[in-house]
Amino acid sequence: MASGNSREITTSQVGVHDKLDELVTKYRTSENKRPVSEHTQRAFDEVNDWLEGYDGEIILDSCCGVGESTANLAQANPRARIIGIDKSALRVDKHEHYRAQQNNYRVIRADVNDFWRLVQQSSWKVTQHFLLYPNPYPKKTQVQKRWHGSAAMVDLMAITPNIEVRSNWLIYLMEFAQAAKHYGLISDLKEVTGEFHMTPFERKYRASGQACWQLNCRSEED
Ligand SMILES: C[S@@+](CC[C@H](N)C(=O)[O-])C[C@H]1O[C@@H](n2cnc3c(N)ncnc32)[C@H](O)[C@@H]1O
Repeated sequence: MASGNSREITTSQVGVHDKLDELVTKYRTSENKRPVSEHTQRAFDEVNDWLEGYDGEIILDSCCGVGESTANLAQANPRARIIGIDKSALRVDKHEHYRAQQNNYRVIRADVNDFWRLVQQSSWKVTQHFLLYPNPYPKKTQVQKRWHGSAAMVDLMAITPNIEVRSNWLIYLMEFAQAAKHYGLISDLKEVTGEFHMTPFERKYRASGQACWQLNCRSEED
C-alpha cells in the first residue's frame, strides 16, 4: 500500500498542448532580451572561479531543490564537476543535510532563466543536464511557464543535447520531447523503476503510489 500523501496532478489538459509547436517556433526565432539578474550573475561568476583551470566534464542539475540529486550525481561521477542550481534560498540552504563527502560539486542559488544564458555563452564543457521534477504548471493556460513552452528553452537547448527530465506528469515529458525535436533532439521515455530515489520529490510521489517518468534526450546526429 502507498505510504505517502502527495496529490496527483489534476488538469483539464488531456494531451500535448495544441499551441506548443507555435510557441516553440516563436521563441526559437526571436531574441531573448531579458536582462540577467545581478544575483545570478554573481552566482555564475563564483562558480566560474571555482572552475578556473578545469577543462573536464560538467554536469548541470537544474531546479535541484535541496540538492540531493546533485550530491548523488557527484558520487556517481567523481571525475566530473557537478553544479546544482535552484532559485529558492530556503531549499539551497537545506543542502547541508544532504551533503556528500565529495568536493566535486556546488549547490548554488540562481535563476536558471539567466544562468542557462550565461552557461550557453561560456566555454564550459557541459556533457549532461538533469532537470528533475520541474514545476509542471499543469493548467492549460500555464503552458508558457513550462520550460519547453518558455523563452528559456532556446538557451536550455544550446547547452547540451544530453538532457534528462523527470516528472510525475507524463504530458510534461511528451511536450518536452516534441519541443526538443524542433532543435534536432530525439528522446526515449520510460517509467522510473527500482528502489533508489534521485530526489525528495521522486521519493514523495512514488511513496504516494504515483508513477514517475524519465525522458532522455540526445542529438539526432549521434
Ligand atoms: C518540484 S521542485 C523539484 C526539486 C528537486 N528537483 C526534487 O525533485 O526534489 C521544483 C524546483 O524548481 C525550482 N525552480 C523553479 N523555477 C526556477 C528557476 N527559474 N530557477 C531555478 N530554480 C527554479 C524551485 O525552487 C523548486 O525547488
